[in-house]
Amino acid sequence: MLKDKKILLGITGSVAAYKSIDLIKLFKNKGAVVEVIMTASAARFISPMSISVASGSRIHTDMFEDHLAHINLPLASDLFVVAPATANIISKHASGIADDLLSSSLLAYDRKALFAPAMNWRMYQNPVWQKNLDILASLGHCFVGPERGSLACGEEGIGRMARVEHIVEAAEACMSDQDLSGQRLLVTAGPTREYIDPVRYITNRSSGKMGFALARAARRRGASVTLIKGPCSIEPPYGVELVDVDTAAQMHKAVMDRLPALTMLIMSAAVADFSPSTRYDKKIEKSELTRLDLVRTDDIVADAGSSAERPFIVGFSAETGSSVERAVKKLHDKNMDMIVFNDVSRSDIGFDCDLNEVVIIDRNGSLPLPLMSKDETAEAILDRAVELKKLSGKE
Ligand SMILES: Cc1cc2nc3c(=O)[nH]c(=O)nc-3n(C[C@H](O)[C@H](O)[C@H](O)COP(=O)(O)O)c2cc1C
Repeated sequence: MLKDKKILLGITGSVAAYKSIDLIKLFKNKGAVVEVIMTASAARFISPMSISVASGSRIHTDMFEDHLAHINLPLASDLFVVAPATANIISKHASGIADDLLSSSLLAYDRKALFAPAMNWRMYQNPVWQKNLDILASLGHCFVGPERGSLACGEEGIGRMARVEHIVEAAEACMSDQDLSGQRLLVTAGPTREYIDPVRYITNRSSGKMGFALARAARRRGASVTLIKGPCSIEPPYGVELVDVDTAAQMHKAVMDRLPALTMLIMSAAVADFSPSTRYDKKIEKSELTRLDLVRTDDIVADAGSSAERPFIVGFSAETGSSVERAVKKLHDKNMDMIVFNDVSRSDIGFDCDLNEVVIIDRNGSLPLPLMSKDETAEAILDRAVELKKLSGKE
């Protein structure tokens, strides 16, 4: 999404200014080109030379060095990001003040910008500043953070600049056309654990990466997203409601409780089909356990599909083989709108990989997708879901 995009990054006078180096690197890793404007105060916190090395280009600081920089820089950019954004720059912009290169360039920028505020919690809570923040928010500008935590002054509170990974995610969201705005999505991800005793369980190889990519993409596209996740060790997406569960029964309850409020359910979790019929309270002696009896777990997607409060449903079918027949049967049997088939016998795609190669199946036919990253696969799945939802009038 950020490939070849021109980011104009404004850096202002906060202790968090040193994090701009990592932010620039992340933007560049995503293929973006970064131009930087620093305020005079920012240059007291980090040297323009260090920023210039990270960005690979000359840093703009002086309004009078190039008489048209304050017009041409914003005009040439795809997104204006101010990170860290001081209380001062936000208040100045809310009042239309243009007394240096950054504030003048912001005034000449006629699209929505992204601000990552960073400041002491007392400054953050000041009602005058909050009013200025409201002004920018009401004009449609995007914000990320600040977060709660330990602040540079030694105090605890709200005011830490958002993590640079989250700023990049917010930049992508700010540039997206928000076609899922108003949608309430629930995504399930990862494996479940079915306990034999307090220390032993049955699980599967799901990492949660596909579900996390779907939740991240849906959030970026404007949906309000709940992510119900089994035990996963990967970093959760920014800006989604997280619900942790362990077992298939817990996941079933968490989904069914939320079903009436949803417009779309995406079941990408690898929910265990079987659970031990007895869960021992204490660790069982190995000599005592001679056989394991299993019972079927409740089928979450089938129960959602037969519910009166059924949202648009996207299921997943992980199969060991390239035939899509079982997936097609599941689509109909469980009353889904769409099912995503993937062959998990391949070591390069599916479980615990960054790549996937899936076939999207719906009632009109099937759409094979090429081998691509799970992020790209997530975008393609959501594209098809949006299209089908429109066709079915469930929009
Ligand atoms: C050590 C130090 C740390 C500061 N940190 C912040 C900060 O995190 N956020 C903020 O809004 N202002 C902070 N300030 C105050 C700003 O630097 C000051 O308001 C300055 O005028 C901002 O200018 P600028 O917005 O043009 O960069 C800090 C000041 C000092 C001396």
